[in-house]
Amino acid sequence: MYQTPLETNKVLTKPPLTPLQPVYWAGLGTYQQAWIKRDDLNHPVIQGNKWHKLRFNIVAAQQAGCAGLLTFGGAYSNHIAATATAALAFNLKSIGIIRGDELANQQQAWSPTLNQAELQGMALHFVSRQQYRYRHDPEWLAQLHSQYPDYYFIPEGGSNDLAVSAMSDVVQQINQQCPDWTHLVCAVGTGATLAGLAKAAPDKQIWGIASLKQAEYLIPQIKAWIGQHQTNWRLLSQAGKVAFHGGGYGKTTLEIMATQQSFEQTHKLQLEPIYTAKLIYAFDTLLQQACFPEQSRIILYHSGGLQGRTSGSN
Ligand SMILES: Cc1ncc(COP(=O)(O)O)c(C=O)c1O
Repeated sequence: MYQTPLETNKVLTKPPLTPLQPVYWAGLGTYQQAWIKRDDLNHPVIQGNKWHKLRFNIVAAQQAGCAGLLTFGGAYSNHIAATATAALAFNLKSIGIIRGDELANQQQAWSPTLNQAELQGMALHFVSRQQYRYRHDPEWLAQLHSQYPDYYFIPEGGSNDLAVSAMSDVVQQINQQCPDWTHLVCAVGTGATLAGLAKAAPDKQIWGIASLKQAEYLIPQIKAWIGQHQTNWRLLSQAGKVAFHGGGYGKTTLEIMATQQSFEQTHKLQLEPIYTAKLIYAFDTLLQQACFPEQSRIILYHSGGLQGRTSGSN
């Protein structure tokens, strides 16, 4: 954990260079190569894609003279954990609007994520699952804005235009580390990470692996972020008959868990079950089904989220 605001500030203003680790995997063809971009190493809590997605938002909050950050998430949300930590580090207050009002009076049932967020000073406001569905609704947002006028609002998952543009730092690093890469494969929740990577690398292929069922509803928003005419990206939910989502958001299968374990052991790293385990399972399946061209140089994006290893996350 970073100890002082200054230290974190330094880290958030210049993305730390994270390793590009070679991947050794049986399914790779003779002329194919793969690496994993270890952004799980960029920060203990503001980790992986969260580091990038929050970066410009924190600057914007500071420039607007806001007293705090207000955001939305589930009880196991990586984004809630990251936002609470970042706010504390930057001397900002923080409010988390949390899905599930059954938790309001039951602190003993709180996830480690919520306990940790509260310890970092985040005020937790629990709302019913029904109310939470309105998290993008302009009317509810306007009401919240009038309740918390000096707070900077960040959408669920930290996904907005500033988050998308900050993902270009990841592409810049990869370009330096491996200039002739051809494919970048990342996990998808809202699609902002996929959008940012695709936008920053128009001459490469960016493939997003859906961690939820029926993820096609994300496509219009992803297109709005990337630009309607850019076609260097795909949102993949399955290959042949093999689905990547493991039964839905927060669910998994024995096959996904076995692939996760094997990849973790081989590469001496950790994945989490909601996003990156499914990414690796998809990579393995796509290789088995010969979906990558023969000479591909493939980068897997480790988007962090390791605080969610013991539970579920979003
Ligand atoms: C560890 C991790 N990887 C990937 C994602 C997906 O990112 P996005 O919502 O930008 O698609 C998330 C989203 O919260 C995440 O926590």
